[in-house]
Amino acid sequence: MTAQILITCKTDYEKILAREIASYNFTPQTKGRGWILAQLENKTLFKEHRTQLTIPCFAHSIRETPIAVSAASVNSLADQLVNLFLTNLGSKRIADPWAFLFSSSGNEQLIHRAKSAEKSWLNKLQKKISRVAKLAREGIPYNSSFVEGFFVHFIDFNQAFVSFKALSAGQQRMQMDPKAPSRSYLKLEEAFKIFGNEPRRNEKVIDLGAAPGGWSYSALKRGAIVIAIDNGPLKSPVKLHSNMSHLKVDALKYTYDSSKPVDWLFCDILEKPDIIFNLLHKWLSQKWCRNFIANIKVGRNDPIVLLNKINNSRDGLLPFCQALYIRQLYHDREEITLMGQAK
Ligand SMILES: C[S@@+](CC[C@H](N)C(=O)[O-])C[C@H]1O[C@@H](n2cnc3c(N)ncnc32)[C@H](O)[C@@H]1O
Repeated sequence: MTAQILITCKTDYEKILAREIASYNFTPQTKGRGWILAQLENKTLFKEHRTQLTIPCFAHSIRETPIAVSAASVNSLADQLVNLFLTNLGSKRIADPWAFLFSSSGNEQLIHRAKSAEKSWLNKLQKKISRVAKLAREGIPYNSSFVEGFFVHFIDFNQAFVSFKALSAGQQRMQMDPKAPSRSYLKLEEAFKIFGNEPRRNEKVIDLGAAPGGWSYSALKRGAIVIAIDNGPLKSPVKLHSNMSHLKVDALKYTYDSSKPVDWLFCDILEKPDIIFNLLHKWLSQKWCRNFIANIKVGRNDPIVLLNKINNSRDGLLPFCQALYIRQLYHDREEITLMGQAK
């Protein structure tokens, strides 16, 4: 049995995503700015493996069995969308809130088009079935399995794909805290949401490549005790925080000297992927940390080679992990972020 899926990603990462999903048994068919249509030969295989581990790093959302719709005006597009919604609804009774999303990849015009179609569709729906329309909630909830709802992705001005089931990979835009010393703060806040785990009061954090202090700030906000390791200077307010100490040493040579693993390892060092891989391998194989969040700057290196190395069941990082989430975050650029719990 074959199944078709639509996967969305960051613009310009379609080719990389296509290569990545090929290793998950998906055959990429067509693609455009920020999306890929792919086919899976064996649908049951996909269902069995739809755990956090198998969400592709470069995917933002995965939508099942997309239906192509096209129309020249917002009004006729919205009519088609209402018809599709009602046909799918059939005689089902909706008593609980349900999810919907009108998304698009690319330019401002397309975003605006999706918003106009959403407004028109919701107005029409309110007129026809106001009780059901009132229960509509925007967004794909981040969940370990597919969520039912109404998900529309615009690929062009007059063209969209509709799915009734979607899976979010969890990326989201975070709000900047004006006191945070750097914008890297946003990445860590986003990573906590995807991981579903964050430092608690009095937990210990070792922050490798900490300066100017965005990640440390995030941990301090939660009441954690932080050791920042960086030759560079920290900024206020982390610099003088009572829960903060700063070691001006090389993070690559630093050795953790304690019988008990530290609660959290943060790693955000501007270095080649292989160097960061080796550093994480050292920390995990020596059981120096319980949880870790690491950002790897991929730059011009091949991210698929790196992902295969991380996921290798013999000498990768995966064998040391109880849980491992790998994502290109909303706030990541040419980077990927690893969030893991050690065995
Ligand atoms: C992207 S910045 C980190 C930003 C930080 N996470 C924040 O939230 O503000 C990278 C940092 O890695 C540090 N770094 C690079 N190589 C290092 C090394 N070998 N040891 C320690 N720090 C290093 C740099 O000094 C720089 O401050």
